[in-house]
Amino acid sequence: MTTLDNQARAILRQNDRGGYTIPTDGLYPYQWNWDSVFAAWGFATFDLPRAWLELETLMAAQWSDGMVPHIVFHKSDPGYFPGPDVWATEKTPATSGISQPPVAAILTRLIWEQDKGAGEGHVKALYPKLLKWHRWWHDMRCTYGPVAITHPWESGRDNCPDWDIGMAGVDGSKAGDYTRRDTGHVDPSMRPSKAEYDRYIAMVQFGVAVGWDQERIVAEGPFLMADPGITFVLLRAHEDLAVLGRALGEDVTEIEGWAAELRNALPLIWNPELGAYDAKDLRTGQFAGVLGSGAFLAYLASASNPELDAQLMRVWDAVRYGIPSADPEAAIFDPRRYWRGPTWPVVNALMAIGLRDAGRHDLEARLRSETAELIQKHGFFEYFDPTDATPCGGDNFTWTAAIWLTWAGRDLELARGAA
Ligand code: DGY
Repeated sequence: MTTLDNQARAILRQNDRGGYTIPTDGLYPYQWNWDSVFAAWGFATFDLPRAWLELETLMAAQWSDGMVPHIVFHKSDPGYFPGPDVWATEKTPATSGISQPPVAAILTRLIWEQDKGAGEGHVKALYPKLLKWHRWWHDMRCTYGPVAITHPWESGRDNCPDWDIGMAGVDGSKAGDYTRRDTGHVDPSMRPSKAEYDRYIAMVQFGVAVGWDQERIVAEGPFLMADPGITFVLLRAHEDLAVLGRALGEDVTEIEGWAAELRNALPLIWNPELGAYDAKDLRTGQFAGVLGSGAFLAYLASASNPELDAQLMRVWDAVRYGIPSADPEAAIFDPRRYWRGPTWPVVNALMAIGLRDAGRHDLEARLRSETAELIQKHGFFEYFDPTDATPCGGDNFTWTAAIWLTWAGRDLELARGAA
């Protein structure tokens, strides 16, 4: 075990709040949905029972309609805005009112494969909840074909250029007075702008005004965009959930149907002018016209093609470390501002799962070594400037530690075999 392995384990332990793991102290003091699932994957490399507990705690916050919220506010913390009082979802435990990329089935499968015997009971208990969540995605977010998001935070890629056209139509002028907390924890130039925050808050206020009625939010809300990133994550997650279901002896026809429908919808998010998958404003039918890391999650769902391959190599070769979150050759590229350019170890890791499964070992190895270099040089930051490796955002970050333990610090195949 290396020093970095030890540090990564220590970060997971230190961000453990008892049954759930926060992304990082200060900036993100609650349980975030996809962060938590990555934490489980990281724990699985040295403490399998703790990994299962993480997933169980997250799924225990599931709403009765099946949604698994993007934040679970276990204990109130004034250091974060917008907190439970702003979301006002009236759930116990308190939660936000949107979801986040459904990576849970994908990583549950990987954790279960490490020790199927030890995992069987856990998978049995989690399966009906995951199934219900996937049904929610299908019924509440796939009515237009690809996955629609109702708030940029639902995508997990909060302020990426994909959402600019949808955000332009959101009126943030009545968001009222509030104090941001994120900019007190990290350099404001690495965070979304005030104009973006006004709109984020306006969207939350709309959800509160309609009592978090998801059908009304989809039909009448201020923002509705097709997200290539979640579309690919959900497609892969459906397929992995079906694998888990078959192993349990369940009938997975319904899941196979959702996956087939979603795959058939992919042409709707292919922008021929851009030569790539693209986000789309579902209120106007307009493509975003920007290439981002969401499109490259196509690799996770075996949905790439030669044109996308060429785009991948172009944006990747234009930087030095990993896949940038926005096109480095486009005017909007901002290499240190949150999702508008930086590279994210978690996104690289998701892509790597797909590259490995497709037998593209040279690309997977390059992505792994570039991601590892970032962590070796600067430690476990939230994200990095892909041009010069400058560490950005929060430090001692759970998901970066998890990605080191599960992938960046080792060969994924070897890690699986050794477990
Ligand atoms: C934040 O507060 O920046 C989060 O990403 C919202 O989920």
